[in-house]
Amino acid sequence: MTADAVNHHADHPGFAGVTGLLIGLIMSLAGGAAARLAADVASVSNADRVIDVGCGPGTAVREAARRGARVTGVDPAPVMLRLARTLTGDRPAITWVDGAVEALPERDASATVVWSLATVHHWRDVTAGLAEIKRVLAPGGRFLAIERLVRPGATGVASHGWTTQQGESFAAQCLAAGFTDARVENHTPGRRALVVVTAVRP
Ligand SMILES: C[S@@+](CC[C@H](N)C(=O)[O-])C[C@H]1O[C@@H](n2cnc3c(N)ncnc32)[C@H](O)[C@@H]1O
Repeated sequence: MTADAVNHHADHPGFAGVTGLLIGLIMSLAGGAAARLAADVASVSNADRVIDVGCGPGTAVREAARRGARVTGVDPAPVMLRLARTLTGDRPAITWVDGAVEALPERDASATVVWSLATVHHWRDVTAGLAEIKRVLAPGGRFLAIERLVRPGATGVASHGWTTQQGESFAAQCLAAGFTDARVENHTPGRRALVVVTAVRP
């Protein structure tokens, strides 16, 4: 995987054990601003069914549910799903599912919104992931990817995100996958600048 690929951390070993739990807790403390931004940009309401791909500790899932949507959080890491369930409690509007973007365990055209926060840079296969998201979105459905804005050439933890150029490359890949209206914007809803890519399933 080259450093400029949008999934430049596809070889990450995954989150597990006590370390995975601690990282999940840190994500849950740090992820509020991005979760609110996702819900604002997607204009989530009680008319929506949202799928959060790579939901981690579930911060954006809970945000969408607060706005009245039915929400499914999908993640391949059992430790993240356990943490998400513990932090959320029993909420009838929320479902948690073990899975990854490359083979989403969801029905065709079953969602009005799909988002993936701080996760695309870990996807193993971007082409397969975009095809799956297009499959599960209903016509007119909104897709949103958010990544931390990182400096070109950043290494280590500081590289977990996208440069503006990677955001633009992902928007081009969305168009190539058959989405329309692909846009890239930078937002700073909290302390960190974020790259936001939006696209629509025709
Ligand atoms: C940095 S965490 C972000 C979690 C959450 N979206 C947030 O913003 O708090 C990345 C998440 O993506 C998940 N992930 C990794 N590879 C994935 C894949 N191929 N499909 C879906 N999720 C994946 C990880 O298990 C992890 O929970």
